[in-house]
Amino acid sequence: MDYKKAVQSRRTFAIISHPDAGKTTLTEKLLLFGGAIREAGSVKGKKNSKHAMSDWMEIEKQRGISVTSSVLEFLYDGYHVNILDTPGHEDFSEDTYRTLTAADSATMLIDAAKGVEAQTKKLFKVCKMRGIPIFTFMNKLDRQGRDPFELMEELENLLGIRSYPMGWPIGMGQSFSGVYDRHNKKLELYNPENPKEIDVIQLTGPDDPKLDEAIGDEGLVSQFREELELLDVAGDEFAPELIAKGELTPIFFGSAISSFGVQTFLEHFLSLSPAPTPRESSKGLIEPLENQSFSGFIFKIQANMNPAHRDRIAFLRITSGKFERGMSVKHVRVGKNLKLAQPTQFLAQSRSIVDEAYAGDIIGLFDPGTFRIGDTLVEGDNFEFDEMPHFSPEFFSAITVKEALKHKSYEKGLQQLTEEGAIQLFKTYNRFVEQQIVGVVGVLQFEVLEYRLKHEYHVDIQLERLPFSFARWADGPTEAMEAFKKTQRNLVTDRDGRIVVLFENEFQMRTAIDKYPEIKFYENSFIK
Ligand code: G4P
Repeated sequence: MDYKKAVQSRRTFAIISHPDAGKTTLTEKLLLFGGAIREAGSVKGKKNSKHAMSDWMEIEKQRGISVTSSVLEFLYDGYHVNILDTPGHEDFSEDTYRTLTAADSATMLIDAAKGVEAQTKKLFKVCKMRGIPIFTFMNKLDRQGRDPFELMEELENLLGIRSYPMGWPIGMGQSFSGVYDRHNKKLELYNPENPKEIDVIQLTGPDDPKLDEAIGDEGLVSQFREELELLDVAGDEFAPELIAKGELTPIFFGSAISSFGVQTFLEHFLSLSPAPTPRESSKGLIEPLENQSFSGFIFKIQANMNPAHRDRIAFLRITSGKFERGMSVKHVRVGKNLKLAQPTQFLAQSRSIVDEAYAGDIIGLFDPGTFRIGDTLVEGDNFEFDEMPHFSPEFFSAITVKEALKHKSYEKGLQQLTEEGAIQLFKTYNRFVEQQIVGVVGVLQFEVLEYRLKHEYHVDIQLERLPFSFARWADGPTEAMEAFKKTQRNLVTDRDGRIVVLFENEFQMRTAIDKYPEIKFYENSFIK
């Protein structure tokens, strides 16, 4: 296949949402359109999604690839779509954030009755930091939700992003009748008796009498016309260049469970979302279309995909070039050549061996312990992609090994888990007795840590929860930093020796920020 064509047809994106907004449902419907699965319900066992923590290993076994984020791919209308799954619930972890570094755009899924929720807000921030386009799908229109204008206002007030509705709903909940596509001037009719059967009517515009005929409710139609007029007059204009920069989000309305509005969303999304985007590296921007030699970076390492073999899979995002099975690449950090013999790709739930893949694709590499998060693999060149940031953990525990004699295995295990990115390890700064502190984004990671150290390294540990909720990487002029370090009690250093401050609550954090205007406090280790 022509290289440029293959790359231009790739779309790699993540769905960001709060648990229960309908991400599994939407993913399933997208895969159904792409023919990647045949029936709904095969993405993951729904009942498993609200598991008790102690079930973690069992769930890992059953789900195979779902506990930490996985990748699903499907073909649609000449496009090759990769969906990066971002786990929620208790399995929310730093992986969820890191996955976003491998995406070229994001779809923000919002329950129209609930609006912007906590987890969505956190994930949105990471997307914003990267400046990637963000598409919004307002879900569950078949139920009574909030006023669409109010939802738009919330996007602006809570997330600071302007929006442009690509469609506009007619009614909601009991009165939900359909969505008008502002671009194609098409009316999609919702039939509650048989929601899967969607009638599409081509209109000349919102004033077309066919609309009155189709909806048959005067009140609804006139309300819709008024709202649309208001949007046209007072709303933002459609601006693809702002969408591309992540400054304007196109909004779609629908009901994932009834597959309503999903196809329209998919089609607009594919035409507006970017093909694989360039990445910064030590030799400048690596443009996928201009650099046809293979390069990529590891954004996630997942252990125990198959507990029987205890293998690890490193997920690699191809940044440029074409991957071919058996090819030899350079592992830049260790300065060695590697043969990529058995890489896997993920189609719905199964793994399969991949023979070729292009920029934008994600492949899974068997990892006998050679990879770290952020590692670069290149063909015939020698550069490294920019460092992968660490994100602020939200739960902290002091960690000690129970048997002093096992200290060596304990350190080895901790190092491995830190490199995989399962945990972040800090050390107390300037304390008489040095203490190791583990930080995680999702509380389930503590259990994973305990389990893996016990089963893989035969080490029992003791974790003592600490009262902190925020970590901020601190940086500033030397003198100011020295003064700051003298007065702060809860200072730690990260793996690379950077100074990090731990705060118990937002008030404490605010006070420090106000008190030390010369010092910058970063939410992630990506200090610029
Ligand atoms: P998640 O992955 O984001 O956590 O959400 P998931 O798809 O599992 O959906 C959460 C719940 O919301 C599910 O109901 C699902 O059926 C429902 N849902 C998803 N999309 C829509 C929609 O468009 N309209 C309505 N009314 N509901 C929707 P549940 O009761 O938790 O599970 P189930 O018993 O239905 O499987």
